[in-house]
Amino acid sequence: MYNTEVLKIDDNLIKENRISDIKDTVVIKKAADLIKKGEVVAFPTETVYGLGANALNSSAVKKIFKAKGRPSDNPLIAHISNKKQLSNLINADIPEVVERLISEFWPGPLTIIFNKSKIVPDITTASLDTVAVRMPSHPVALALIEKVQLPLAAPSANSSGLPSPTKAEHVYNDLNGKVPLIVDGGICNIGVESTVIEIKANQVNILRPGGITKEMIINRVGKAFKVISEHDKKVDNPKSPGMKYKHYSPQTPLWIVKKSSINNIFSDNKLANRKTLFILTKETVDNVNLKEVDVDIENMGSINDLNYIAKHLFNLLRDADKKDYDLILIEEVPDRDIGEAVMNRLKKAALKII
Ligand code: TXA
Ligand code: MG
Repeated sequence: MYNTEVLKIDDNLIKENRISDIKDTVVIKKAADLIKKGEVVAFPTETVYGLGANALNSSAVKKIFKAKGRPSDNPLIAHISNKKQLSNLINADIPEVVERLISEFWPGPLTIIFNKSKIVPDITTASLDTVAVRMPSHPVALALIEKVQLPLAAPSANSSGLPSPTKAEHVYNDLNGKVPLIVDGGICNIGVESTVIEIKANQVNILRPGGITKEMIINRVGKAFKVISEHDKKVDNPKSPGMKYKHYSPQTPLWIVKKSSINNIFSDNKLANRKTLFILTKETVDNVNLKEVDVDIENMGSINDLNYIAKHLFNLLRDADKKDYDLILIEEVPDRDIGEAVMNRLKKAALKII
């Protein structure tokens, strides 16, 4: 057991992206010292909070799996702060198209799969011969990686299976006593995890949709490349091992409600008198008459601002879980732009779609 500390980085330093000042703070020094000693530390990224350890130290990485209760066959992403660190981790030339994606989207929420070099221990990659790498854009993440001068293996800093954390408070609720330090950098701006891709010949496979959308990738790689959403395919042995587990779920049962079902969900006693929260888009709240129905309504935001919906999604699910509902219903959102990542997370979290 640890006596978990939560230490805050000044909001202004974050807003003004003052990476070198953040690097000089007492909090980052403390975090870096812990990581150098082989400990784990939770820290903010632009997507969600991560639980980081030295990616090259097996016993440190083992502590990540233990704190989260994460299955050991689910590999971790190595986080870097500059491109020089990439060449040490991989064992291959970087194709031109990958260079193009890196120069456009790094630092940022794009994770790329490479053949791994010998220095990356098996535990980090769950014995795969590939390694997932990303350069986050959050100034606190960059400052921490620069301070330790090591790649950080970091999954989302939630207990395995629960919604990912987008606030330090979420991390504390899941991991209090299990980690020595949570670096608090406020709310994560993107709110869903990075996009995970692999490149095969002239094809980009999206293994997990995320902060960099399919549309953004298509724009960058051009017509010579096919961009495939692998996660849409029903496979027993997914290429991104993490995608096979139930994920992101509140403890309260969650159902996705198709737009076409909203009006009849309240008929036929479908809800069977369960105490229900219905999370709806702003458009539905504004246009559907729900005055007569006996459920609580929560507004997730407008479908014209899917980035807002993504940013607040996990917080909404965690908040809903704290109240004693028997059932959470959530309306589907359009499967475009970052809505693709939102729907992917909801489908993994939900018991059914009605
Ligand atoms: O935004 C993010 O990516 C966050 C922040 C903290 O950076 N991290 C994150 O990590 O979401 P995690 O561990 O929760 O999800 C990593 C995903 C999993 O689905 C895992 O299976 C996949 O990436 N992955 C990792 N290494 C892989 C590899 N070598 N091949 C295929 N998929 C891999
Ligand atoms: Mg995760």
